Amino acid sequence: MNRYLVPVSVLGTAVGGAVLLKDYVAGGACPSKATIQGKTVIVTGANTGIGKTCAGQLEQKGGNIILACRDMEKCEAAAKDIRRETLNPRVNARHLDLASLKSVREFAAKIIEEEQQVHVLINNAAVMRCPHWTTEDGFEMQFGVNHLGHFLLTNLLLDKLKASAPSRIINLSSLAHVAGHIDFDDLNWEKRKYNTKAAYCQSKLAVVLFTKELSRRLQGTGVTVNALHPGVARTELGRHTGMHNSAFSSFMLGPMFWLLVKSPQLAAQPSTYLAVAEELEGISGKYFDGLKEKAPASEAEDEEVARRLWAESARLVGLEMSHGSSVRRQPLPK
Ligand SMILES: NC(=O)c1ccc[n+]([C@@H]2O[C@H](COP(=O)([O-])OP(=O)(O)OC[C@H]3O[C@@H](n4cnc5c(N)ncnc54)[C@H](OP(=O)(O)O)[C@@H]3O)[C@@H](O)[C@H]2O)c1
Repeated sequence: MNRYLVPVSVLGTAVGGAVLLKDYVAGGACPSKATIQGKTVIVTGANTGIGKTCAGQLEQKGGNIILACRDMEKCEAAAKDIRRETLNPRVNARHLDLASLKSVREFAAKIIEEEQQVHVLINNAAVMRCPHWTTEDGFEMQFGVNHLGHFLLTNLLLDKLKASAPSRIINLSSLAHVAGHIDFDDLNWEKRKYNTKAAYCQSKLAVVLFTKELSRRLQGTGVTVNALHPGVARTELGRHTGMHNSAFSSFMLGPMFWLLVKSPQLAAQPSTYLAVAEELEGISGKYFDGLKEKAPASEAEDEEVARRLWAESARLVGLEMSHGSSVRRQPLPK
């Protein structure tokens, strides 16, 4: 028995150390015990991954949850899953396709008409590294869904959020934004060779710039807006990447992934934290890496770029022409 003692305790220490390291690398659980009894929360892209898990966590904190998804079958199934666990009837599925300005406008109009208040908007949905697809309105898909769709949605819901203040907007960005650059000459990848990775990074940089500019515009309204990187998580986000589908890379990178990759439960903690924490009341225009506020990339801090992106985004989604009615697509910038 004695000769096994040393190897077993070494193994135990190694496993314990690896688990501690994983927890350290992945970031911890939401430290706030605050509840949001009766508050209305919208989560986009809530049928799977971080969005679905976050919706469940916020429902457990007492919120009335609206899951906003493009596939109603998956959306209803997710709502049912969340209701089943908690028996809460205040979980509803609504249709929202962020790749369609018409759909965004229809969703927002319904929310404005049917919901008395909206206290939390979590712009969570995203598409990553998809082929060179375009949205219904002709925008490059990652820029169109991750940034423009949420830009329009948020603007259309601003009056409701202001009337419900104190209220919060949470924008899911990514650490990938640090590799991003806003190319105003070709926002929609019509002139350059398409690069799926650079397009994702641009879209996530746009999310941080939007957060910063919106926060400046919302000063004094009681509505806060922050951006976050949830950490690297085991979700469906990599569905368009080769690595996701390759058994070889899964095998080779598996152990490293185990160490670095979060469960959706852990990756949803930052969104939940930003939505509920009392200590974050009034905090706005910040970027969080997990649960901690951090400085974003320097381009994300550039106020001139943020102002220009706002103006360009408003033009592309037709916000300056009409606020709430149907819009025509404007010509892309030359
Ligand atoms: N997972 C990570 O490692 C990681 C790292 C950094 C940042 N993030 C960010 O975290 C957020 C959540 O990602 P996730 O990992 O949970 O990804 P996910 O599992 O792929 O979930 C993405 C969600 O977005 C929805 N969506 C995609 N296109 C849409 C559209 N046109 N209209 C409406 N919904 C749409 C998807 O719906 P369908 O199922 O119908 O496609 C899905 O519900 C994203 O903003 C992502 O960029 C994730």
